[in-house]
Amino acid sequence: MKVLFVNGSPHEHGCTDLAMQETCKVLQKHGIDTEILWLGTSSLQGCIACGKCHKKGKCVFEDAVNEVNGRADEFDALIVGSPVYYGGPCSQITAFLDRLFYSGAAKWTGKPASSIVSCRRGGASAAYDRLNKYFEMSNMPVVTSQYWNQIHGNSADEAAQDLEGLQTMRTLGENLAWLLKCIEAGRKAGIEAPAYEKRIGTNFIR
Ligand SMILES: Cc1cc2nc3c(=O)[nH]c(=O)nc-3n(C[C@H](O)[C@H](O)[C@H](O)COP(=O)(O)O)c2cc1C
Repeated sequence: MKVLFVNGSPHEHGCTDLAMQETCKVLQKHGIDTEILWLGTSSLQGCIACGKCHKKGKCVFEDAVNEVNGRADEFDALIVGSPVYYGGPCSQITAFLDRLFYSGAAKWTGKPASSIVSCRRGGASAAYDRLNKYFEMSNMPVVTSQYWNQIHGNSADEAAQDLEGLQTMRTLGENLAWLLKCIEAGRKAGIEAPAYEKRIGTNFIR
């Protein structure tokens, strides 16, 4: 089993990464592999709403979005992370996730997911809610912890002092490991994935 972490922070080894590493350690203790993808500091293209992905099956822009969607089968769960910028997630992670889900949400159906946010002081829960929105409309079970998955600090050194935040990340790892093992056991016992109806789309113009 393998879990993909996507870090949208411009700091490869900042607070968001520190929190993710804490969750990774717990997953690894349970024999679950982890990979952290750092999106970097070059600006990531946002969605241009061309809709071509629905015909092509992938985004028109060839970057990390198509790479990750192309590798979705390798991963059993997805965790995304972001620093809080003005009470929301940073633009790097929303650009990535808008395109990842608009062009390939079906690839992630049934895979547990969660988000992690880091901030100096406030706005964490709004950013956390925003990130979970991607999973909540993509048939992905959202994994929670003992508190919302947030860590506080302006630097990794400061975040390392947030003992409750770090414990929250470890509990997230425990809950995710447990759920992944339950899903695997269910599959082996013959529990089938849900069969969904054809999706109805209404736009309320009449
Ligand atoms: C543009 C910008 C906006 C920010 N907005 C907030 C904010 O609304 N609330 C907050 O508590 N911290 C805010 N911060 C601080 C970061 O969220 C905080 O330092 C975070 O933990 C950094 O995570 P990282 O090391 O993973 O990048 C902001 C920082 C920047 C650069």
